[in-house]
Amino acid sequence: MITVIGNLKGGSGKSTIAFNLAIWLAWQECDVKLLDLDPQRTLSDLVGVREEEEFAPPIKMLPPDMHLENLRKVSGEVIVDVGAANMVGMFAAISQAHRLLIPVVPGQADVWSTQRFLSMIASHRHPECEAMMFLNRTDPLGGSKETREAAEAISMLTPATALPARLSQRVWICRTLSEGLAVFEMEPRDKGSLEFLNLTQVLYPNLPVKKTW
Ligand SMILES: Nc1ncnc2c1ncn2[C@@H]1O[C@H](COP(=O)(O)OP(=O)(O)O)[C@@H](O)[C@H]1O
Ligand SMILES: [Mg+2]
Repeated sequence: MITVIGNLKGGSGKSTIAFNLAIWLAWQECDVKLLDLDPQRTLSDLVGVREEEEFAPPIKMLPPDMHLENLRKVSGEVIVDVGAANMVGMFAAISQAHRLLIPVVPGQADVWSTQRFLSMIASHRHPECEAMMFLNRTDPLGGSKETREAAEAISMLTPATALPARLSQRVWICRTLSEGLAVFEMEPRDKGSLEFLNLTQVLYPNLPVKKTW
């Protein structure tokens, strides 16, 4: 299955989520490959740190210059990280995708931009491709006006589903990236990791879970 993680906004957590999902899938002994289509290459840098540290499980990457029309020929789970800096790659990936995962940071501008993004991609989406949104970087207590309003706003955006999962803003999460670790590898008992593990269950409900934290 091809999952594209995309949206127009930088800093919404696309690379962070792609990296963490790939590590979680690799722990579940799933054949997972990452594709970094963002010219910033954040995801490739994260995988590079993990390789240098020789952390297991290792994460495989597809070549960033691969022909995207061949994406459906790749076996196993494919996770693509792409943002506004590569709209050609974005449209090409979405035309092959089984689903599009859109992290949205609470805030009116981010909601508007997500709405615009959904309209922009409408004609490029593979007919099977389901668009799913979830809030990332919400206030840790979850009760702020901004988070509540954003949750309500994305529940009304079409054609996309608001997932029953959200990740709150945790200061330690950027540290996991500089160390090449997934959040649940570094702080398995923290609420931020439990939120991420809940997201994996929402995204991969039928995958046999071999490893828990
Ligand atoms: N839930 C979160 N809590 C705290 N920091 C986060 C969270 N999600 C992402 N970040 C941080 O935000 C920054 C941008 O995330 P990144 O994944 O690079 O976004 P994008 O790929 O969408 O530009 C990174 O420093 C990352 O560590
Ligand atoms: Mg990124």
